[in-house]
Parts: sequence; C-alpha cells; structure tokens
Amino acid sequence: MNPTPKPGILDIAPYVGGRASAPGAARVFKLSSNESALGTGAAAIEAFQAMATHLDVYPEGSAQRLREAIAEVHGLNPDRIVCGNGSDELLTMLAGAYLRPGDEVLYSQHAFVVYRILTLANSAIPVPVPEKNLRVDVDAMLAALTPRTRMIYLANPNNPTGSYLTGEEVRRLHAVLPPTTMLVIDAAYAEYVRRNDYESGIEMVSQFDNVVMTRTFSKIYGLAGLRVGWAFCPAPVADVLHRVRGPFNVSVPALAAAAAAVRDRRHLEAALVHNDHWRQWLIEHIRKLGLRADDSVGNFILIHFPSEGPHTAKKADEFLTARGLILRAVANYDLPDCLRLTVGVEEANRLVVAALGDFLKGG
Ligand SMILES: Cc1ncc(COP(=O)(O)O)c(C=O)c1O
Repeated sequence: MNPTPKPGILDIAPYVGGRASAPGAARVFKLSSNESALGTGAAAIEAFQAMATHLDVYPEGSAQRLREAIAEVHGLNPDRIVCGNGSDELLTMLAGAYLRPGDEVLYSQHAFVVYRILTLANSAIPVPVPEKNLRVDVDAMLAALTPRTRMIYLANPNNPTGSYLTGEEVRRLHAVLPPTTMLVIDAAYAEYVRRNDYESGIEMVSQFDNVVMTRTFSKIYGLAGLRVGWAFCPAPVADVLHRVRGPFNVSVPALAAAAAAVRDRRHLEAALVHNDHWRQWLIEHIRKLGLRADDSVGNFILIHFPSEGPHTAKKADEFLTARGLILRAVANYDLPDCLRLTVGVEEANRLVVAALGDFLKGG
C-alpha cells in the first residue's frame, strides 16, 4: 500500500494565487493579490541589497532584530512577537500546534480560503459560518460554537469583502469563548484601516491568553515577494511557536528589509494616503457606472455583477484581462458574481474604470 496523507488532506483544493499574466495584452496591471500600489519603499530595498554579500550565513533564527524593530514601532514586548515566512506560515504553525483531529474550526463564510486548508490539513473540521450583508455575523459565530470548537479564525478586515468588525464586536465574540478556544485575529490589512472603532487585536492579545494576532509585510509594506509576517502572542503561545517553527524560517534579506520597512513611516504614510484617495475614487466611479461596489477598509474593493446575461463577473474578468487588467475572481470565496479589485497606481485605476465602462456598453 502507498503512503497515505492524514485524513482531510485530500479534501483540500490547492490554493490558487492571483493571476499575473494576460496573454496578448501589451501592458499588464496585476490587481489580483492586494499587493501595495506603491510597491516596496526605498529603505527596504536598500536594506535588502545590502544583504547580497551576506547570503552565505544562516539568519539569526529568532528574528530578534526584526522583532525589536516591530516592538519599537508598535510599543510591544519583543518576546511576544514571532516572525514567519509570511503570515501564512504563522497561521500554519498555529493550526499545526493547536488543532487535533476532530476539532472544530470556525471562520466566516467569505473568509480567506487558507483557514479551510489549514483546518483540513490537520484533520480538523471546518465550520464556515454564514455572514450577514457580507460582514462577519458575531451572533451566527456564537451560535456555531460547540464544546469541540478549538479555534476561530477571524480576518479583520476581511478579504475579499473589505468589511470589518469593530473592537467591541470582536470582544463580544471573545467574551463567551472558553479559555481553551483560541481566537486568531488575522489583521493582514490592519494598517489600511482608518476607523476609530477598529482594533487590530494588540490590546486583546495583551489582555487574554487565548487571543493571537497575525500581521504581514506583504500588503502596505510592499514585501509580498520576500515573505515576512509576524504574530503577537500570549507568552505561552509564543513559546509554542518558537518550538515548532523551522529553525531559520525567515531569510537574511527578508529580516533586514522588513526591519527597514517597519521603521520607514514615510513610505507607509504615502501608501495610506494613496490608498484612501484611490479606493474612494474607484468606489465612486464604479458605482456611477451602475455596478455595486462595496465599501472597504482595505486596499481592495469587491465589485458585483449580474449573475446572468452579457455582463457577468466571468465575462467582465475576460474583458478586463484582454486589456491587461487582472482582477481576482472570487467564486472560491462563495462569491461567484463578484470580482475583487486591488487599488492600483493611478493609471491602472483609471484604465479599470474606463474598461468597465466599455464592458457595460458592449454586449
Ligand atoms: C486575510 C489574509 N491573511 C493572510 C494573508 C497572507 O499574507 P502573507 O503574505 O503574509 O502570507 C492574506 C494575503 O492575501 C490575506 O488576505
């Protein structure tokens, strides 16, 4: 008999990333993976390049200097930060360390698909919870809790809907959890949020031993290609993650670039200003075309199309791709009539609105 994987693994549909090519198009704008419109900051590039002559040595495994840089900027205890090869790796480590076969894992209906993958990879049971108006429904989450619920993944803000829960709502969800159930707050887009009632999760992690927050350098810091993320954890969880992580899980150039990026507040502010302006511009102009575009607190917008006729999401995707504008189809997020658009550079944003206008005139 052949080796067989653990139960659940063959039920996983492999993750498919955003497309990057549009055959036949002269110029391509990749607006499919929520990468930063402004790209990587100069300080991070310089730090990365400086490491070109240090590639023969292993990285310092605990990522101490990066943890100290993050801690300094956010006012945290560096001992409670764990760095990973993207926040995906931290989410993977948490699942691997805490999920047992048969445990139930809650996440909302339109949440990041990685949560389902990690649940199945650990022979646990995925429990997707219905959303209300494309927002996480705390009451439905509470109703889905059972004594077997081991973990709740909460993307806040959520990808691909762009909606968020207020700090108060997250606390209401947490308040009824037994201490053995872990709430993982995936705050990959936290830096983009400008709402007074939003909390990234830092305060909750400081207060409660069953809350973990993950963050990434892939989005506003423009380092998606390098793969760096971090988790802020209760001390016992940080201890567990350090035991299970790969000994050198973040590379030498990644550590250096991320430390420079987190200290480069000017680049972050510029990315934020760009995002605020163009996200609003896109939403307004797409709505003027007669399409539904949802409010978003992230660097992306969910656009809705008719489910039948000449202007479906699938046809829009083909039309835009032919013009080199690559958006993200989100049928695998249970949103078959939507496309997700990442806020891009000015030229890309204007081209998308013009192309959507032409698409709607045709057919
Ligand atoms: C909600 C959410 N969490 C996590 C990630 C993964 O980020 P990273 O690049 O840090 O692995 C993404 C990336 O798309 C995301 O949208």
